[in-house]
Amino acid sequence: MNDALEKAGELAGRHIVLGLSGGAACFKAAELCRALTKAGATVQVVMTEAAERFMTAVTMQALSGRPVYTSQWDQRPDNGMAHINLSREADAILVAPASADFIAQLAQGRAAELLALLCLARPLERVPLLIAPSMNREMWAHPATQRNLWQIDQDGAHVLGVAHGDQACGEFGDGRMLEAQELLEELIAFLTPKALAGQRLLITAGPTFEAIDPVRGITNLSSGKMGFSIARAAREAGAEVTLVAGPVHLPTPRGVTRIDVRSAEEMRLASVQQAESANIFVATAAVADWRPAVTAEHKIKKDGSGEVPHMAFVENPDILSEIAHSPRAQSGELFCVGFAAESQDLLANAQAKRARKGVPLLVGNIGPATFGRDDNALLLVDDEGASELPRASKRHLAQQLVAEIARRVSGLSA
Ligand code: C5P
Repeated sequence: MNDALEKAGELAGRHIVLGLSGGAACFKAAELCRALTKAGATVQVVMTEAAERFMTAVTMQALSGRPVYTSQWDQRPDNGMAHINLSREADAILVAPASADFIAQLAQGRAAELLALLCLARPLERVPLLIAPSMNREMWAHPATQRNLWQIDQDGAHVLGVAHGDQACGEFGDGRMLEAQELLEELIAFLTPKALAGQRLLITAGPTFEAIDPVRGITNLSSGKMGFSIARAAREAGAEVTLVAGPVHLPTPRGVTRIDVRSAEEMRLASVQQAESANIFVATAAVADWRPAVTAEHKIKKDGSGEVPHMAFVENPDILSEIAHSPRAQSGELFCVGFAAESQDLLANAQAKRARKGVPLLVGNIGPATFGRDDNALLLVDDEGASELPRASKRHLAQQLVAEIARRVSGLSA
């Protein structure tokens, strides 16, 4: 994705058919429609008769900026074949919400309504069909529904998950449609080329917290945003991603396995364990260099005498260096990437750090210019020299870095 495309939106140039079947979750489809257009997609809404009971076509027209299709007998297309035209124009068809009945229609190859008809008529190889189920938990768990979901998956549809929680009917359980933002992320992930297919990527992110006593500790200003963005981009590129996260308030990227840790010791333990089965290790965490030699069991009290506590520190383990020097990394089975947050002399410091850590690729950035921000600029340092990824959003930089890692890893296995 180039910079112009980043500004235009991640779905710029994509044409999405957004199908609505009947269900209370139609209200989320309105938000989804906005999210899709905001991401740069053009959206053609198609609604079933049941969907129109829950949401008006006028609302969806206003949000998509295009007249909505509801019937195969629509007189607008010159050739009278809305199902052919709509399905051939689409880069993807996303049915959200997909009701139990609509899924049953797909499973049987039925085509009584325009939406089911165009799904059946789509060119299977070229136009992906994504299904966002939405129904009551009993309907979801019913063997007929599960059988139909299995069938449509076999027939080439991509069935998205459901959420667990309160349902419109007042019950609680599985079957809620995913939120608009989650569906947008799923669609973007689905459409991303799978440059890391089959790879298992381990990443550390965020700060660590080293306890002084039960209420105090030392930490640093890392927000975790860069690491979380890389985890998301890697998962979108098809990797199986494990994210070992220090204490940060960031949502887990969809489809990523997260292990929360607090101290450097905990981060080391989780990372060393997970590195056993990873092919790629990216260390973005800002691990505290030192920790208090002892952690007081109870809060250290200020007694009014003016005396300050004297604290001894010990050095924390260097997680990246340890993993990069492991036999799997040394033999090339595990590709390691380090980060360096510097405040000056980025190139010289990054080169020195690359050698010290023993990693093939080290990514430098100016710490104070990026801490907590949504943008950054990176310097990629390897044994051939350095190249810059100019200032951009962390999301965009993460995508570029993942593409770069994929190139290097595929070069290793080629
Ligand atoms: O030595 P420095 O902290 O500058 O090195 C930064 C790189 O090393 C980052 O990739 C960071 O995640 C990793 N690191 C580590 N364990 C440490 C210190 C740093 O994994 N104790």
